[in-house]
Parts: sequence; C-alpha cells; structure tokens
Amino acid sequence: MQSQATYNYKVVRQFAVMTVIWGIVGMLVGVIVAAQLVWPELNVIEYLSYGRLRPLHTNAVIFAFGGCALFATSYYSVQRTNHTTLFCPRLAAFTFWGWQLVILLAALSLPLGYTTAKEYAELEWPIDILITIVWVSYAVVFFGTLMKRKTPHIYVSNWFFGGFILTVALLHLVNSAEIPVFAAGVLTPKSYSAYAGVQDAMVQWWYGHNAVGFFLTAGFLGMMYYFVPKQAGRPVYSYRLSVVHFWALIFTYMWAGPHHLHYTALPDWTQSLGMVMSLILLAPSWGGMINGIMTLSGAWHKLRDDPILKFMITSLSFYGMSTFEGPMMSIKTVNALSHYTDWTVGHVHSGALGWVAMISIGSIYYLLPRVFGKTEMASTKLINVHFWLATLGTVLYIAALWISGVMQGLMWRATNVDGTLTYSFVESVKSSYPFWTIRVVGGLLFLTGMLIMAYNMFMTMAGGRAVNDAPVLEPAHAH
Ligand code: HEM
Ligand code: HEM
Repeated sequence: MQSQATYNYKVVRQFAVMTVIWGIVGMLVGVIVAAQLVWPELNVIEYLSYGRLRPLHTNAVIFAFGGCALFATSYYSVQRTNHTTLFCPRLAAFTFWGWQLVILLAALSLPLGYTTAKEYAELEWPIDILITIVWVSYAVVFFGTLMKRKTPHIYVSNWFFGGFILTVALLHLVNSAEIPVFAAGVLTPKSYSAYAGVQDAMVQWWYGHNAVGFFLTAGFLGMMYYFVPKQAGRPVYSYRLSVVHFWALIFTYMWAGPHHLHYTALPDWTQSLGMVMSLILLAPSWGGMINGIMTLSGAWHKLRDDPILKFMITSLSFYGMSTFEGPMMSIKTVNALSHYTDWTVGHVHSGALGWVAMISIGSIYYLLPRVFGKTEMASTKLINVHFWLATLGTVLYIAALWISGVMQGLMWRATNVDGTLTYSFVESVKSSYPFWTIRVVGGLLFLTGMLIMAYNMFMTMAGGRAVNDAPVLEPAHAH
C-alpha cells in the first residue's frame, strides 16, 4: 500500500505554544510599564526603567506574541488549504529556532540599552541580519508549499499571508539599512541609519505604518479568512469581496505613512497625500470586516455558546472600530488634537488588544486541540472566562486612554484671554493619573485571561498527544 503523506504539525505546535508564553511575557512587561507611569518609583534600575522596557514591550507583543501566532497559523493553514505538507521541513524548524533566538537577543539587548531609536525597528544590525535570514527562510517554506499544492486554486488566506511575508521583507530591508559604528577601529553592535533628516523620518514611518498594515493587519486577516469560516462551519461570506479586499488593502496601505508626520518638516503635499490615502483605507478595511462578520450570517445563534467564535467576531468589531478611528485621526485638524496624546495609545491598543490579540487567541484555541490530538480544549468554560476578561480589559484600557487623550489635547491648547497657556504641562500629567491607573487594571485583566489560557493549554496538552502525523486529506473540499 502506498504510504500516505502527513501534515507537519510539529512546527505549528511549537509556535502555538510560544504564542501563549510570549503573550504572557509581553503583556506582563506592558503592565509593568503601565504601572511605572502611575508609580515612577518602580523605575528601580536603569536596565528595567520605563525607557528600556517600553520598546521591550512593543517588540515582545508585536514580534514575539504576534509573530509566533502568524507563523503557527500560516504554517497550519497553508498545508490544509493546499492539501500538501510543508516545503522543506528542516528550514521550517530553522525558522522556529531562529525566531526564538531573535526574541532572546531582543530581550537582552533592549534592556542593555542597545537601540537604533527607530520605533518598531529598534534592534541593532547583527539582529537585523538574523531577522533577514529567518524571514527569507520563512518565505521559502511558505511559497515553496504553495508551489507544490495539490489544489488548482490558491485560497484567499494564503494571499494575505503571502502579501504579509513579502511586504515585511521589503520593509525590513529598506528601513533597517544602517551603517555599523567602528569605535577605535573595532566593529561595534551600534549603527547609524543610512538615511538622514526628513528622509529618515519618511522611510521610518513608511515602515512604521506598513508594519501596522502588514505585520499587524494583513497577516491577521489571513488568519481571519481561514479560522473564522472553520470555526463558524460556513464558507466565507463573499469570495469576490475577499479578492477585492486584498488588492484594495495592499494598494492603499503603502501610501498612508505620512499621517504619522503631520505638521513636521515633511513637504505639505506628502502629508495631505497620506491623509487622503488613509481616508480611502476605511473602505477596504470595512469591506474585510464585513466579510468576516457576515460569514456568520444565518448562524448567529452559534455565537451564544461558542467562546472561540466570540473571540473572533469581537476581534472583527474592534478591527472595524480602530480602522474607523485611524482614518479620522489622520485628518490633519483631528491629528492636531490627538498627536502626542494618549488618544494615539488608546487607538493602538484597540487595534492591538481588540483585534490582533483577540483574533490570535481565537485562532490558537481552534488550533491547539487539533495539533495535540484532542477534539476540543480541556475547558470551554475557561475560554469563556478568558473572553470576558479580555473584552473587559480592552474596554477599560481604551476608554480610559481616549478620555485622557482628549483631555490632554484640550489642556495643551487652552489659552487665557491674554494669550498665555491655561495649564502647565505638569497639570495635564497630574490629571492623567486616574486614567493611567484604570489602564493598569485593564491590562491586569487582559493578562489574567492569558494566564488562564496557558493553564487551559497545558491541561489540553497533558491529556493529549503530539500529532505530527495527521494524514493529508484527499477530498477536494476537506480542508
Ligand atoms: C496587558 C496588555 C497590555 C498592556 C498593559 C500594555 C501597556 C502599554 C503601555 C503602558 C504602553 C506605553 C504607552 C505610553 O507611552 O503611554 C504601550 C505601548 C504600546 N503597546 Fe501595549 N500593552 C498591552 C498589550 C499590547 C499588545 C497585545 C500589543 C500588540 C499586539 C501592544 C502594542 C503596543 C504598541 C504598538 C505600543 C506603542 C504605542 C505608541 O508608541 O503609540 N500592546 N503598551
Ligand atoms: C484604516 C486603518 C488605520 C489608519 C488610517 C490608522 C491611522 C493612524 C493614525 C492617524 C495614527 C496617529 C499618528 C500620529 O498622530 O502620530 C495611528 C497610530 C497608530 N496606529 Fe493606526 N490606523 C489604522 C489602523 C490601525 C490598526 C488596525 C492598528 C493595530 C493593529 C493600528 C496601530 C497603530 C499604531 C501602533 C500607531 C502608533 C504609531 C506610533 O506613533 O508609534 N492602526 N494610526
């Protein structure tokens, strides 16, 4: 008898478990930096001070937590949708260990104070080279798997994952172009950007915004297009809309970066172009959100008792909210109020906690039992508890920061009749304390939910077995 091909779940399992672990670490650091803003005496030593830990938080949640979730879900779904096993399993294993090494090096170098000072691209040049090697390997495994597919058609989730992989490679290569520093003739791990002045700012925010658009959005939309229909047990609402969604989104995102540089030395027309493209971006974003949510049409009752589906549908609601808010904030007159305030940070976390974290959590809950030889997670009740903690935590976080953000903006611009400022800066900081305290509470709730997820995961693993060898399904629609 011909031996049957088997899916490679080992690397999926490794990335899935590390998603939960890094989620806890990254969010714990988030809670610590949130607490440091309320109680500055928590800044005990320089290595663990706010300035060092903040980039550690952003790197840990985006690249360690979000990155592992993206690797796990893309490696799982690319095999299932193409009815084939991963191309070059050794290279796939290398991407796992290589990515963990990148994360460890970040966790060491950032507290030590090594940084390029480019937001979301803080890691220094030796780590940048490692990232490039791992990322190219990821692309080879992903596109290699697509090349050997057994299906005539490439399902839309793969378009989003593929777009994300290619664009992140491009962004990383261009924005991280840097010149290493030689001190007394010796090569150091420090570097300077290859760009200067306003060009540097433009390249950085072309990168920064597309990191949002591709790392924090396109990849997670790939997740949505595979896992929402699977969990709902229904086909995606409109396949035609998903294709329009893909092309419209990737075309528009590329131009929106200058909205991070309003009222700067960047030429005015560039700022206006960024603003207009950001407003246009509302349409494809909402097209995608509607496509995801309407996948449940005719099966809304499933939401009542399926907490995994609750995570997914709530994440899409937050996605809709943050992609409405973003275009509004990119209008120059609105940005004049929101920029530099907590409003931006509130917007970030409605996308980051509400959308990115929730869609990842939902997808990982779907995936875990399947790669550990179980039919479901050890406790559905605990998934429900997690869902409510995460939702409440997110709402507390973002509502508090919206209020403090608008308050700060209004206080900074308030003037007396004689033209002097009504409030000193310190007064605005003092008034922000209650809201920063609410953020700590919201963060703690979200983190508690992640700890419950870890417990549920280990219970599922304890009663299960590692499935490395699920047979590749033959029927055309069996993925
Ligand atoms: C327990 C959950 C979390 C807490 C308590 C938390 C807390 C924080 C705090 C205190 C800051 C600094 C804000 C400031 O400068 O005023 C921050 C920044 C940031 N966090 Fe989180 N965070 C959490 C989860 C996440 C997640 C899951 C993501 C991404 C997936 C994320 C992405 C970011 C980003 C991108 C920034 C930088 C924002 C900016 O520069 O405007 N966070 N977070
Ligand atoms: C149509 C979609 C979106 C648009 C047009 C948009 C627009 C904006 C604008 C105008 C800002 C403020 C820039 C400033 O004043 O400095 C901003 C900041 C930010 N947004 Fe969005 N946003 C969108 C969606 C999202 C989503 C879904 C996420 C997260 C998953 C996100 C993450 C961020 C981050 C991390 C920042 C802070 C960047 C920084 O200064 O460090 N955005 N966005």
